[in-house]
Amino acid sequence: MTGTHVAIIMDGNGRWARMRGRPRWRGHVAGVESVRDTVRACPDLGVTTLTLYAFSADNWRRPAAEVGRLFWLLREYCRREQAELIENGVRVTAIGRRDRLPASARAELERLEQASAGGSRLHLRLAIDYSAQWAITEAAGEVAREVGTVTRSALERALTGGVPPVDLLVRTGGEQRLSDFLLWEAAYAELFFTDVLWPDFRREHLAASLADFGRRERRFGGLVALVGVTTPEAVRAAG
Ligand code: IPE
Ligand code: IPE
Ligand code: MG
Repeated sequence: MTGTHVAIIMDGNGRWARMRGRPRWRGHVAGVESVRDTVRACPDLGVTTLTLYAFSADNWRRPAAEVGRLFWLLREYCRREQAELIENGVRVTAIGRRDRLPASARAELERLEQASAGGSRLHLRLAIDYSAQWAITEAAGEVAREVGTVTRSALERALTGGVPPVDLLVRTGGEQRLSDFLLWEAAYAELFFTDVLWPDFRREHLAASLADFGRRERRFGGLVALVGVTTPEAVRAAG
């Protein structure tokens, strides 16, 4: 059964480190434990797809040393977590560009994707060198080349590969913006912003965001009691 799709903008690592008088990269290291705890919590909380924003296409603007640390961490995560992820039925895939990744990080990521392909309890998607605007542009190009006419459904298929849309989008670290994350897939996502910095984020924070989500009334443009009763054509026909 398809459960909830949660997407998380994991923000606040640098501030977490600075508050402790440590270099920024220590915050990224600490954030790996938050990823571990969040991934472990998902199946129990009814989350079947989890998309984590790990590195944006604009994060290349950061100092080379910080970027280097981030890709080192990615490589180590893929190596060290592989056994547990597979044991827990987690399938890992990456979204974003691959051609600009350091070769060793890309190789470990693709090894993990292949090794975990049979997982069916949780689909963990890692957004790496990701930009929603880039992804939409790529998908549109693909549809134009292969189908000719760009339709909404063809574009959606090319973009998402059938992954369901985001139900709940969480951003930690206090900022309230999307930073080019899942602009299409989050069209009707419920948004949840928290001041908790990513390295402090644990399963109870995820549970709290899902409890809040459970109290929202999602209308998708309709009225909750009347969802699906009409179409623009029916209204026009009725005069
Ligand atoms: C999020 O934390 C991690 C990445 C963007 C890779 P930041 O590094 O952006 O931390 P802040 O926002 O500077 O505190
Ligand atoms: C968004 O955080 C990207 C990730 C969490 C990977 P940023 O810290 O890069 O976003 P801005 O610069 O505050 O918008
Ligand atoms: Mg940030």
